[in-house]
Amino acid sequence: MKKLIPIFVVSIAVILFFNGKKYDELVSSRLSSPIAICIEGESCGQATAMAVVAVGGPRSAESIYASGCAACHDAGVAGAPMMGNKSQWETRQSKGYEMLVNNAYNGINGMPAKGLCADCTKEEIGIAVQYMLDTI
Ligand code: HEC
Repeated sequence: MKKLIPIFVVSIAVILFFNGKKYDELVSSRLSSPIAICIEGESCGQATAMAVVAVGGPRSAESIYASGCAACHDAGVAGAPMMGNKSQWETRQSKGYEMLVNNAYNGINGMPAKGLCADCTKEEIGIAVQYMLDTI
């Protein structure tokens, strides 16, 4: 039995060593895969396609609000602060614009993440929030 212990220890060490090596190889192969840093306007594969999409820019406040937010915020559905209602918005406004945008983007209570605008960017949600705040 005593003879078996060193063999056991050595085999564990070998397993760990080779596993470790494989892990290192995996990590370095992942690190060496091409990471493209792309400047808008330069041709660099997929990133260019994304830049082209971004060229369209954010949608207008009116259109984001009308299609993504009005369904609830026009009439105050489920306790949504109503468009243009100063007292309902004032309490929320004290959280600060950033927090309101985060909550609208991530969802809070009855407010679903991004409202009905599933493809809205955070910037667009911010534009819609500002649009509502501007009416009070
Ligand atoms: C399905 C209904 C619904 C839609 C659509 C909706 N909201 Fe809301 N929203 C709510 C409700 C309900 C609340 C109140 C949540 C609560 O209890 O604090 C709310 C709250 C908010 C708040 C206040 C968050 C806070 O921290 O107090 C903001 C800002 C907001 N909505 C922005 C938006 C924007 C921008 C859109 C459109 C992109 C949108 N909402 C679409 C239901 C909706």
